[in-house]
Amino acid sequence: MYQVINKTTGNKFKVNKDNILNSALKEGLFLPYGCQKGLCGKCKAFIVSGEVSNITPNNAITKEEIDNNITLLCQCYAKSDLEIEIQELATRIPPSSKKNMKIKEINALNYDVFELVLEQSKENKISFLAGQYANLSYKKYIDRPFSIANTPNDDFISFHIKVVKGGGFTNLLANDLKIGENIEIEGPKGSFYFNEQSTNPIIMVAGGTGLGPIKAIIEYIIKHQLKRKITLYWGVNTQDDFYLDIPKEWLEKITFIPVLSNPKKNWHGRIGFVHQAVLDDISDLSNYDIYVCGAPIMVKTANETFIEKGLKIENFFSDSFEINTK
Ligand code: FES
Repeated sequence: MYQVINKTTGNKFKVNKDNILNSALKEGLFLPYGCQKGLCGKCKAFIVSGEVSNITPNNAITKEEIDNNITLLCQCYAKSDLEIEIQELATRIPPSSKKNMKIKEINALNYDVFELVLEQSKENKISFLAGQYANLSYKKYIDRPFSIANTPNDDFISFHIKVVKGGGFTNLLANDLKIGENIEIEGPKGSFYFNEQSTNPIIMVAGGTGLGPIKAIIEYIIKHQLKRKITLYWGVNTQDDFYLDIPKEWLEKITFIPVLSNPKKNWHGRIGFVHQAVLDDISDLSNYDIYVCGAPIMVKTANETFIEKGLKIENFFSDSFEINTK
């Protein structure tokens, strides 16, 4: 067993056989993370001293970063006592737990997205922050991440699930799930949630079912009557992919800009990539908070281009949806 000290905060934790991120979370540290698969880069930390296992460069971490002692804590194991540097989260995230929850509703939303609604009760519930995700396990498939699409303290948990072509798990869910049966859920997970401390105007950017966690945050803001100016950009491929009507109550309180990348006839709205619509509308992003959810390439491009337009890195909040086709 090794000891790790986070020099940024002075917090210490022990690492046994698990990776460094899991070890820290188990001991109650609030570290930033997302996918837990080495794909999003949110758990990057600087190794000040000590020895860790090797990781390979990918879209989330470059060779230069690895050469400069930066690593992904979710992929990395301690080989000695360590000193690391990583910013911890200011917000206390509710602890994760595993539950069996009854399926309350299964609602088709369009041709390839459905809503799965699980029943929460006082005795059997998961506490979470608006925007977080949970892992679902069903039959032979375990720990598949899906963002929660509703607000905390509802008596249900809802997910927007896109049925991926050739995707074993999402097709199984779409075809086999029955109302009244149980499904295993573990959560909450991830450090994507609403930053209540800020007073900046907010830009929300959702690609496809990236609307789910964005919806949770918008509903939270409206429910708690928080005074924040919100502009929502929702980008999908064609008109058929808008799987949800934006509620009238939202339209009275936020600005909604739908964007199509590949419109059919009779579309008079915005066309192109959804992040580009933001760049076209606002030349200086330095005073905004921006929340982005969707495909990894969209999130990465949004991050790079928004920062070029003045967005402060600490005001960029993102959740990359890794499409699981297995
Ligand atoms: S890369 Fe570690 S949490 Fe995503």
